Amino acid sequence: MSNVIIVGSQWGDEGKGKIVDLLAEQAGTIVRFQGGNNAGHTVMVESKTFILHLVPSGILHDNTKCIIGNGMVVDLDELLKEIEELRNLGIESKGRLLISDAANLIMPYHKLLDVAREERLNSRKIGTTGRGIGPAYEDKVGRTGIRFADIESDSDFKEKIDRFVKDKNLILKYVLDYKGPLLDSNEVFENLLESYRQIAPYICDSSELIDQEIKKGGHILFEGAQGTFLDIDHGTYPFVTSSNTVSGGACTGGGIGPSKIDAIAGVVKAYTTRVGEGPFPTELNDEIGELLSREGNEFGATTGRARRCGWFDACLLKKAVRINGLTHLAVTKLDVMDKLATIAICIAYEDEHGTRHSVMPSKQSLQEKLTPVYETMDGWQCSTSGVTDYGQLPENARKYLKRIEDLLEVPIFIVSTGPKREHTIILDDIFAA
Ligand code: GDP
Ligand code: IMO
Ligand code: MG
Repeated sequence: MSNVIIVGSQWGDEGKGKIVDLLAEQAGTIVRFQGGNNAGHTVMVESKTFILHLVPSGILHDNTKCIIGNGMVVDLDELLKEIEELRNLGIESKGRLLISDAANLIMPYHKLLDVAREERLNSRKIGTTGRGIGPAYEDKVGRTGIRFADIESDSDFKEKIDRFVKDKNLILKYVLDYKGPLLDSNEVFENLLESYRQIAPYICDSSELIDQEIKKGGHILFEGAQGTFLDIDHGTYPFVTSSNTVSGGACTGGGIGPSKIDAIAGVVKAYTTRVGEGPFPTELNDEIGELLSREGNEFGATTGRARRCGWFDACLLKKAVRINGLTHLAVTKLDVMDKLATIAICIAYEDEHGTRHSVMPSKQSLQEKLTPVYETMDGWQCSTSGVTDYGQLPENARKYLKRIEDLLEVPIFIVSTGPKREHTIILDDIFAA
């Protein structure tokens, strides 16, 4: 029995979906522990492409149990849509998808607030996905959120909805200068009840269920969304999401104690990408950045926005190793670098005063003005696409991977060489940890 956490180590979109799907074959239970439908996790199986937003990426294996943990924020309508889309692709979630009764809901006003605020911030916007994530977590922490457990069971539930809708309408109209139609609380209430009744059979005490699975001796996989530097505490604040994306979040957001965790894997893209605003020291606004974008098809799985691309940043990753306590690395998208003649790795930053930093400083004003210090290596300039055997990789690709391991002092257990399940080199069994 082993319980494994999978997290994104950069700014999201590292390929977590593919890695979770791959490991889900061995794990009986997969738990998403934070975030909402801001996530877009792509899994390619044979000729089908699945993009999971709320449903854990383990759902594609027939015998898995998939849990939406208490740390998530759930847009009910989007969840029902996702379940239906999966059904149309031949995947039945009923009986296998379970939702924590302590998870909070994303309400229609959260989405309106998210978008209206971003418009108001204009040039200082965060570049959110517009899915209502920030406002939903704010209400959770402010103790004005709505949890699955309280729908219908609360005697003053309708009154509560009336009050929340009224308050949010006032903010939208008078604070955010929102010009669109305001929400009708009766409509919000009726729609919520209708959707809730469809989803009610999926709701459970997920922490207890996970505990039972652990006692039965099954492997549990905790699936993170976003990435370490989008974490609300440890990321490039304020250009972050509103949850704890790091491994510690798996315990609070899954309802399990830290003593139950056996291994923590960081998914690491072989270069770096970021969607939305915020500092990105190794960003490449040149033909190399364009090559990575083109070869890696770097467009957001949720919003379709172009992802910003840049070199691998070892300073960033060293911090990710520390904060997550990474025991394993899964390096993805190696094949995207096949055509590069020279490859750079960022090993330090210099600020505007010429001072060197070995980790990203916390001050936002400094983060924006860092110049990367690079070491370079020769590229391999041949195809690694679909390679499944480490020994078949070109020597320079192996040198690059070895350098990443040496810099981060964490072993690589998976190398991904393409988007499909079979495009993978497996070096170690993480469940044996
Ligand atoms: P996630 O949010 O971390 O699950 O990542 P996304 O699904 O948003 O983005 C990763 C993208 O890269 C998806 O389109 C995957 O199909 C694709 N992908 C994953 N691993 C590889 C790989 O090793 N090589 C290539 N070329 N594509 C990959
Ligand atoms: P996955 O799980 C990449 C980014 C947004 C924005 C910031 C805040 O697919 O890796 P939010 O809507 O969360 O309030 O937006 O976080 N962001 C992501 N970037 N991948 C994601 O998820 C992301 N989820 C949010 O672009 O910069
Ligand atoms: Mg993604």
